[in-house]
Amino acid sequence: MHCPERYVKNNGIQQREAKDALTAYIEKMVWTSNETVLDIGCGPGDVTSDILYPFLKNKIKQLIGVDKSVEMVEYAKSSCGRSDMDFKALDIEKPIHCGSSYLRGFNKIFSFFCFHWIHNKVDSLLNMHLMLKSGGEILINFLLINPLVEMYKILDEEWQQYIKDIKQMSQDSFSQDELREMFIKAGFRIINIESSVKTYTYPNYSSFLDAVRAVDDMYSNLPQHLHGRYAIHVKDKICEKQMVDICPNTGEVILRYLPITVHAVKD
Ligand SMILES: C[S@@+](CC[C@H](N)C(=O)[O-])C[C@H]1O[C@@H](n2cnc3c(N)ncnc32)[C@H](O)[C@@H]1O
Repeated sequence: MHCPERYVKNNGIQQREAKDALTAYIEKMVWTSNETVLDIGCGPGDVTSDILYPFLKNKIKQLIGVDKSVEMVEYAKSSCGRSDMDFKALDIEKPIHCGSSYLRGFNKIFSFFCFHWIHNKVDSLLNMHLMLKSGGEILINFLLINPLVEMYKILDEEWQQYIKDIKQMSQDSFSQDELREMFIKAGFRIINIESSVKTYTYPNYSSFLDAVRAVDDMYSNLPQHLHGRYAIHVKDKICEKQMVDICPNTGEVILRYLPITVHAVKD
């Protein structure tokens, strides 16, 4: 996910998920005045500024979006930065050093559609716990099953060499109960955890493939001359394995996915 311009044109599902999670949970959180809020894995910043910020604007002093991709952070800064909203590069899996301003710096932590990309979930949750003030809350919305990882597993042998971290990724599926344990072990008290199968409809196959491409990091590993052939292979595999439903009358593409939302507190 290094191309912010492509991502912002193809993130309808991410926008809808963030809106749904915030609508369901924002009033269940305990708010004081002048809060400092973090959005982890903010990507190009459009969800942070167009969806999260309007839910928060009377409650906060500052909203900070962080992402491990420098390209995403630079784009977010230039398109959405303002006095009470800033964007910084941060890999949530890496240790937070003592003396860092992130330590116990936040009243709330949000994260949308990022946690399923994080390999070291335990360390990331420990970091989030360290970053929260006492009494602070987290709201994390992500996918229980990462469809891209499922797709990488069925790619033909020739493409497997380009998938860095595939071994790690293939172990990345956790049940809701395993995830609950991870949050508890990191020190959180879970207030609510919920997941259910949802669907998202794309107007046609090409817009669905554009959305897949916008989050497919394989393109940064592949030599340029293989991009076209890889795109065809992805299209064929998705059809062959019937990973989506295609409406025979309209050509609309229906994706089933399994989001999970965790609302927890640091006592
Ligand atoms: C699918 S995008 C979600 C962006 C935005 N939150 C949204 O809902 O549209 C996932 C983002 O998580 C970021 N990410 C993945 N692993 C991360 C990590 N370890 N630390 C920080 N950001 C990470 C990626 O760089 C990417 O921008």
